[in-house]
Amino acid sequence: MRTTVGIIGGGPAGLLLARLLHRTGVDCVVMESRTREYAEQRQRAGMLEQGTVDALRECDAAGRLDAEGLIHHGIELRFDRERHHIDFPALTGGRTVTIYAQTEIVKDLIAFQLADGPPLLFEAEAIAIEKPDSDAPVVRFVHEGREQTLSCDYVVGCDGSHGIARDAFPDGASHTYAHDYPYSWLGILADVPPSCEELIYARGDGGFALHSMRSPSVSRLYLQVPNGTVADDWPDERIWDELAARFAIDGDWRLERGPVTSKSVTTMRSYVHEPMRYGRLFLAGDAAHIVPPTGAKGLNLAVSDVRVLARGFAALHRTGSAQLLDRYSELCLDRVWQATRFSYDMTRMLHAQPDGDVFDHRVQLARLRRITASRHAAAELAANYTGLPLSL
Ligand code: FAD
Ligand code: DHB
Repeated sequence: MRTTVGIIGGGPAGLLLARLLHRTGVDCVVMESRTREYAEQRQRAGMLEQGTVDALRECDAAGRLDAEGLIHHGIELRFDRERHHIDFPALTGGRTVTIYAQTEIVKDLIAFQLADGPPLLFEAEAIAIEKPDSDAPVVRFVHEGREQTLSCDYVVGCDGSHGIARDAFPDGASHTYAHDYPYSWLGILADVPPSCEELIYARGDGGFALHSMRSPSVSRLYLQVPNGTVADDWPDERIWDELAARFAIDGDWRLERGPVTSKSVTTMRSYVHEPMRYGRLFLAGDAAHIVPPTGAKGLNLAVSDVRVLARGFAALHRTGSAQLLDRYSELCLDRVWQATRFSYDMTRMLHAQPDGDVFDHRVQLARLRRITASRHAAAELAANYTGLPLSL
């Protein structure tokens, strides 16, 4: 088999890249190690920046998103038993965000790809990338029980944080910067209307809690838990009690409870792999960087990486110039580090430090109060949350 761009991984980064390439006439093949069913039910992100929505519209994949996505004009910060609204349009010159589940984006992109797109192979696991520094890199993969090869002009590793693409960088050709956080998130989906109109980020006495949503009848909530927590050790009533305690305010507000339909624990990590390119191998999305979910940046970063890549491949295809592709790593890393910093700051500001003392807690509250007291500080949060401009 041969193609122009071999894409490893059929998550949002790989699927969107394939769609954008298809529109510009660049052929590609996507290899996804999991089944279609698994890829379509994996619960993850929900908050989309405007640039992410624009990218999906650009490749005509936003029909359902435009019909069902929920436009949000701000978020609520809760601490000290008080609520504070952060008004995005007022603070950013009109910007908003959209709530639409990553799983729905994946479903939409898979459907388009299978209908008229380039090949998308499920249960196709890449096992090695050979000669990434040559003009003809090769991906070895296992599909339908048989080992096969895909000869490419370029390879893009969109294979997430546990993928194999990073391993093809030779020793000394890259560096990874990483930070682990001393807590995890327990996330639930529940069949109950959201108890709020916008997302609530809360620093309760017991730690962080986030109230998000998927639709007018489905809520998505997260709770800070200790590392090593097993989801089944948390019966539903315990989760609701803890959420209610962390969201509690002085005043009239109630957390509605309902049947929990999914429950999982996510560890929190930051890492950045530099550079994001070696020879004719590129990394995009979680394969190159992950951030803790507090700033809602992971999916949005994956999308901005593939927007830059798709433009680079389009320019190469149209004019023969590799100038943009050559700047890929440099163009992406600036944004990646800004998102890494923002996610780190949000995480540190809102979570209880397991080894922290009253002093740490007071500093956190002072940071939160600064944001709610100063338009300048609130505008800085709003600019980062709604998404910094794509530098192209
Ligand atoms: P992935 O989604 O991990 O996709 C990689 C794909 O590659 C997978 O399908 C995998 O099966 C496949 N693969 C792996 N190895 C191989 C191989 N060897 N061969 C073939 N295929 C392979 N981000 C936001 O922007 N906003 C949010 O609100 C947000 N909330 C989050 C909440 C939680 C609880 C979590 C866990 C994450 C959240 N994120 C959020 C982050 C976001 O989900 C990820 O950043 C996003 O999934 C990255 O997409 P990706 O395509 O790079 O990687
Ligand atoms: C969601 C997840 C996040 O990590 C976040 O910061 C906002 C929303 C969500 O799943 O809806």
